[in-house]
Amino acid sequence: MTGTPETAAQGVVVAGIGHALPPRVVTNAELAQHLDTSDEWIRTRTGIRQRHVVDPGTATSDLAVEAGARALASAGMQAVDLVVLATTTPDHPCPASAPAVSSRLGLGAVPAFDLNAVCSGFVYGLAVTTGMLRSGAAGSALLIGVDTFSTIVDPADRATAFLFGDGAGAVVLRAEPGGCGILDVELGSDGGLQQLIQVRSGGSRQPISADPADGFFAMQGQAVYRHAVAHMTASTATVLSRVGWSVRDVDWFVGHQANRRILEATAARLGIPAERTLVNLDRVGNTAAASIPIALAEAAAAGDLRAGHKLAVAAFGGGATWGSAALVWPELPPSG
Ligand code: UT7
Repeated sequence: MTGTPETAAQGVVVAGIGHALPPRVVTNAELAQHLDTSDEWIRTRTGIRQRHVVDPGTATSDLAVEAGARALASAGMQAVDLVVLATTTPDHPCPASAPAVSSRLGLGAVPAFDLNAVCSGFVYGLAVTTGMLRSGAAGSALLIGVDTFSTIVDPADRATAFLFGDGAGAVVLRAEPGGCGILDVELGSDGGLQQLIQVRSGGSRQPISADPADGFFAMQGQAVYRHAVAHMTASTATVLSRVGWSVRDVDWFVGHQANRRILEATAARLGIPAERTLVNLDRVGNTAAASIPIALAEAAAAGDLRAGHKLAVAAFGGGATWGSAALVWPELPPSG
């Protein structure tokens, strides 16, 4: 890794962004053909209209490479010092997928590792990469949030099958003396809530089970909903107070795209108007660790995010984990 000498007041800025969605779109109506649900129920309860889903043979790393290449191109960079992949659905349980992604992107022998904080993975990744950049351990990093939950969700489970989509979002972060980008990141967890979101088998607690149902993603939706609103609200309020912003200063609230009602309830509790809340889950569903960077990439491409905009980002996920960040959006060239 290349270090930088200015460690104390090192700023960290977003230098590039990109995302990737698999081409296949699954609408609510298509889901309702084989699941006891309806387009109306899914839209009313979640705001989701469709999601993108990988075809068999496409793995998490394939989406990550695509998004990573776009982020590097947007930054005008061909090299970084560090690759962090936030994912719960790596290509294989062992090894991590980050080294393969790094290698396929031609990034050389840089450190590369996976990070699992489920739907909070991108915010956890922001904290880790920002910390390494501030310390001088790296001068630049590629952080990719990526998940293919369609590969772990039971297509016959009406408690989860309608919620998730696949995708990847990536940012290039760069240390910049005096740079004003990622100002602060706040993280938390409560392992007492781990049963709310789980894949039961395939780990050391319960090795691969003869019952395929144990290998699917399981979720207690209502409890997750309540904790998501409470923790995303409290975490965002904490990070805003730490950077000295009031909610009136926030140009965009970018919450984890799990459910439109969760986003609205969190924004309302914080006092952030709906028109300053980014929503793209109607088109992509809940893409887990990819949801925040995909929302950012789409909003940047649409011209909604502009240089100098103040963003409050918040997520909640399995573990339970949560986190939030305050950041100032950079001037970026139009993304491809
Ligand atoms: O990304 C990780 C974090 N995950 C989340 O943030 C997800 C958080 N949870 C949620 O978003 C919501 O809890 C869900 C969208 C998963 C469910 O919405 P809900 O408003 O909590 O629904 P519910 O589970 O309370 O079910 C309400 C009704 C029930 O019927 P009765 O008992 O009222 O007659 C369910 O049986 O809706 C029924 N139901 C469905 N109906 C049609 C449950 N699932 C479905 C379905 N289609 N898929």
